[in-house]
Amino acid sequence: MSEIEQAAAAQPVVPAWEYAPAPEATDIVKLKDTYGLFIGGEFVEPKSGRTFPTISPATEEELANVAEAGAEDVALAVEAARSAHDHHWRDLPGAERAKYLYRIARQLQERAREFAVLESMNGGKPIKESRDVDIPLAAAHFFYYAGWADKLEYAFPHVQARPVGVAGQIIPWNFPLLMAAWKLAPALAAGNTAVLKPAETTPLTALLLAEVIQDADLPPGVVNIVTGAGETGAALVDAPVDKIAFTGSTEVGKAIQRATAGTGRRLTLELGGKAANIVFEDAAVDQAVEGVINGIFFNQGHVCCAGSRLLVQEPVYDELLGKLKDRLGTLRVGDPLDKNTDVGAINSRAQLEKIGELVASGVEEGAFMYQPPCELPERGFWFVPTLFTGVSQSHRIAREEIFGPVLSIMTFRTPEEAVEKANNTPYGLSAGVWTEKGSRILWMAERLRAGVVWANTFNRFDPSSPFGGYKESGFGREGGRHGLEPYLQLEGRP
Ligand code: NAI
Ligand code: MG
Repeated sequence: MSEIEQAAAAQPVVPAWEYAPAPEATDIVKLKDTYGLFIGGEFVEPKSGRTFPTISPATEEELANVAEAGAEDVALAVEAARSAHDHHWRDLPGAERAKYLYRIARQLQERAREFAVLESMNGGKPIKESRDVDIPLAAAHFFYYAGWADKLEYAFPHVQARPVGVAGQIIPWNFPLLMAAWKLAPALAAGNTAVLKPAETTPLTALLLAEVIQDADLPPGVVNIVTGAGETGAALVDAPVDKIAFTGSTEVGKAIQRATAGTGRRLTLELGGKAANIVFEDAAVDQAVEGVINGIFFNQGHVCCAGSRLLVQEPVYDELLGKLKDRLGTLRVGDPLDKNTDVGAINSRAQLEKIGELVASGVEEGAFMYQPPCELPERGFWFVPTLFTGVSQSHRIAREEIFGPVLSIMTFRTPEEAVEKANNTPYGLSAGVWTEKGSRILWMAERLRAGVVWANTFNRFDPSSPFGGYKESGFGREGGRHGLEPYLQLEGRP
């Protein structure tokens, strides 16, 4: 080796520029050793006598023990919700219900930093996302639906809008507090009471929300929170509730649909996705690169509407791919609590294994994998941001939801071909279109079978805008005036 070669070999591989560590302090979060169930306005010990540990996926450290609700506990929570509904909540004037929702929204804002830190500790998502997206949007949902509570007669004119009753709500681990807000805010605004089951890997912000609910003096039983895993969820589906709202895997969604079929109970399902992000040759390429990166690497790709299939028009393929690879190399992967982190920890070991298995199938089926040089922390669950080229539509990585930081890239020549490839999926939750032509955006939006179509942006959310899917992505809409409908009986509707 020459001297120059030796010097080069001694240089560690470093990214283009280095950031000093900028960890968010965690002392604002006061963890309890053990959390009970939140039933009838109080934290109670589970009748089941069981608890389970909840960890930080970034360090694998145990954060707390959480009660595991059995069928008897779920029944008590449903009774509390029923009693609160029948004897109080449904008869309150809408303006009174709104006051509580506004109170919860304001307290979420006041305690935003505490919620953001806890969300990142328990779920592994970057603090800049929990701080700038999850928590503000959760508060925004409570504010938004508070505004509807006394305006139901204007939202649904010429009909009597009455609450459905008790809602059983089962949520996933990718946006723990935000999903709780999506479920609770419209249900409560419409006069329903609720039993919420958080996901087993991320129960802590829902339990902090229970404290906020207590501080807001929400009447006991209006919101009940039962922690546990799939068995607890299944017990809630079997309990005498009037409506089930579920967000999670298509597999469990189908099981819930079977269980509720013929029972007369209402059901909404928000399930998986395999969204196409479509870049036309006339798109602003740098802007599209940022949108594609945000579309798949936001929240480690644990997003049902993630842009996991990139469709690129052939003339810009080489340019776009080069820029995407460069951009991938600048993503900072690591400590979720570091303010500079772009990609945090994978939520659980099980999810990491699922991502690994699907990525291995991509290599095996003949696609080309690209991963930038990337150092991962020794402990915890991590996955390097990954691209696949040479992907065909029959590959599993083009068909199945990976729910991780993995992008499958394909090309197209004509708009018709883009539509055909984009719609060639059992899912239909979201899509993205990148082009400078407004007419093309409208032409595409009409033909894409997706609940949401973003144009020259991706992963944009607002409480006033309805969200939901087609086909195996589920049915029912959340957000906006549409999001109230699943929680209302509209009597006298023509
Ligand atoms: P999952 O569907 O099993 O879990 C979601 C929620 O349902 C959790 O609260 C869980 O405890 C509950 N649950 C599980 N089994 C149940 C049952 N039999 N009855 C009632 N509730 C039940 O999802 P999982 O296993 O965490 O993730 C598997 C895959 O699902 C992911 O890799 C991803 O592809 C997809 N997924 C999609 C989500 C979305 O936002 N649409 C969210 C989470 C997962
Ligand atoms: Mg599961």
